[in-house]
Amino acid sequence: MMSKKENKAEFMGFEEKHRILVIDDEPSVLELCRELLELEGYEVECANNGPDAVAMAMSTHFDVVLTDINMPGLNGIDLFSEIKIHQEEVLGIVMTGHATLNYAIQALNSGFVGFVLKPFRLEHLLQAIRDALQTKQVLLENHRLKTLIPLFELSKSFMTNVHLPTLLDQIVNTCVLVTKANKVSLMLLDEKTGKLKIAAAVGLSPEIIKDTEVSVGEGISGYVAQTGAPLVLNSNSNTDPNSRFYQLLKRSNIVTAICHPLLSQRQVIGVLNLTKTSKGSQFTRSDLEFVSILAGQAATAIENARLYENLRQSYFNTIVSLNHALEAKDPYTRGHSERVAHYSLMIAQQLGLSQEDCEKIEAGAKLHDIGKIGVPDRVLLKNGRLTKDEFEMIKLHPKIGAAILEPLGIFKDLIPIVKYHHERWDGKGYNEGLKEEEIPFDAAIVAVADTLDAMTSTRPYRKSLDFDSVVNEIGRFKGRQFHPIVADAFLELAQNHKADFLVKDGEASYLWVTKLAMDR
Ligand SMILES: [Fe+2]
Repeated sequence: MMSKKENKAEFMGFEEKHRILVIDDEPSVLELCRELLELEGYEVECANNGPDAVAMAMSTHFDVVLTDINMPGLNGIDLFSEIKIHQEEVLGIVMTGHATLNYAIQALNSGFVGFVLKPFRLEHLLQAIRDALQTKQVLLENHRLKTLIPLFELSKSFMTNVHLPTLLDQIVNTCVLVTKANKVSLMLLDEKTGKLKIAAAVGLSPEIIKDTEVSVGEGISGYVAQTGAPLVLNSNSNTDPNSRFYQLLKRSNIVTAICHPLLSQRQVIGVLNLTKTSKGSQFTRSDLEFVSILAGQAATAIENARLYENLRQSYFNTIVSLNHALEAKDPYTRGHSERVAHYSLMIAQQLGLSQEDCEKIEAGAKLHDIGKIGVPDRVLLKNGRLTKDEFEMIKLHPKIGAAILEPLGIFKDLIPIVKYHHERWDGKGYNEGLKEEEIPFDAAIVAVADTLDAMTSTRPYRKSLDFDSVVNEIGRFKGRQFHPIVADAFLELAQNHKADFLVKDGEASYLWVTKLAMDR
């Protein structure tokens, strides 16, 4: 068990001072500006022409650009537009000796926020810079408020969504939306192996997602899992190449990174990694604040989803065991629900349904006949044709199944499958006589899978049909007994993956089902 964590954020290469880029073709102006502004505590870089300034802006983040207008090559207005391509949030101040109203209007229209007349007085220059930084602060606050909206939306979703993979995808997507990170990964700590594995990601290849495994203490994510404290890494032209993780960032072409632990009850359960590879755009303190709030909410939501899943799984296993016990009484139906679940999953995947829907349909199919528990054995196990009354008793099993699951609120998404798996597209099914689109789609999938298994198995009153005959029958009853889209999906599958459907009766099929369960 890892020790309890409660550590403060670490900032490596994080800009505490405001950075100003001064551009003027007169060296004396540059020197004067550098001297004055550095005395005021600003970090200052100078360029005596436009192309050099653009190159600097591509590798270093600046808060303010202070530029002359008339320069050979690239004038100040065009130069600022180019810098803005690389640094969206930078603010500009014009300094010129040729003040005309036209210049001022042109500069304001181009996005500059200040105007300084040369020769300038120190207090005018400083005031213009302070005003620009204040404007920047307001813009940052505005951005921060805007990030509250996706956070609010996400927290609402956390309250209702307990499907872990969907939850994790929402978390990484919100990070990209708010921080404009190029790559985001959410790693969860495997308690057994003590390693971090990627559970959701944006901007990473499937191979990296699958193969990445990081031990606690190893690399950046492992370091954060070990310390339990957030880490902000910014690399720029001033970063000391010997500083921790610098080489790692450089190798991956990362210019800025936030790595945040996911803490539940002060234990690390995972790590959230955000990186940017575009030069000149670094994570800010407000990005870190956003990630901290999100990480806190996410960790709680992940723990809740896990607890819910454990609870649901243990209830589910109990009911599946009951169902197996029921099926075991009858050699003709042994393994039926597992086979139906397997076929249902194949059809759902063929239909391109989401992983969440596929899992739901597979689980519902495992329980589809649970209501047979309420049908007397003398009817259920009768060795011969059923009378009309006996068949009426059998027909009650979807209703009984739904009644068994209803008190267990956690299975409410499976009830439609259990309740409507004997409805028919033409409305001639039971218990409700629903037709066409009235029948829940999940139930329509299980209906095809159920019929497939019933027809390929021997029953006391008839021999099994061979697979090709069953395929023909399902094609013939498409749009009568079966939902046409579901039937088509099955027919396509049958054509391309016949081997996956080939099952035999009795003991052989039981072993086949056991093998399937073990393969999973
Ligand atoms: Fe059934």
